[in-house]
Amino acid sequence: MDRGITGAQYKVYVVQTNVRVLQACLLMASDPGDLVLDPTCGSGTTAYMAEQWGRRWTTIDTSRVALALARARIMGAR
Ligand SMILES: C[S@@+](CC[C@H](N)C(=O)[O-])C[C@H]1O[C@@H](n2cnc3c(N)ncnc32)[C@H](O)[C@@H]1O
Repeated sequence: MDRGITGAQYKVYVVQTNVRVLQACLLMASDPGDLVLDPTCGSGTTAYMAEQWGRRWTTIDTSRVALALARARIMGAR
């Protein structure tokens, strides 16, 4: 897992958010089963963490590149 509050350490997308930041926000602001909306998906870190912590999620992005990266990342998530 990435360290610190800067961007992700191993990026697939130039503005990829650190998973620890999203994890902290998600755990503070939602409960399992809640629906999380991320209107700027990017490489999908919010959806990735929501999936990991039992939240439902929906996400939007204007960039096809971002959505392709997010789809691949989420489909490969454990
Ligand atoms: C910093 S990334 C988002 C990171 C993401 N929220 C996360 O959880 O890691 C910003 C994204 O916002 C997208 N974006 C910019 N303007 C947008 C808009 N008007 N509607 C939807 N997405 C937009 C960009 O394509 C980019 O992928």
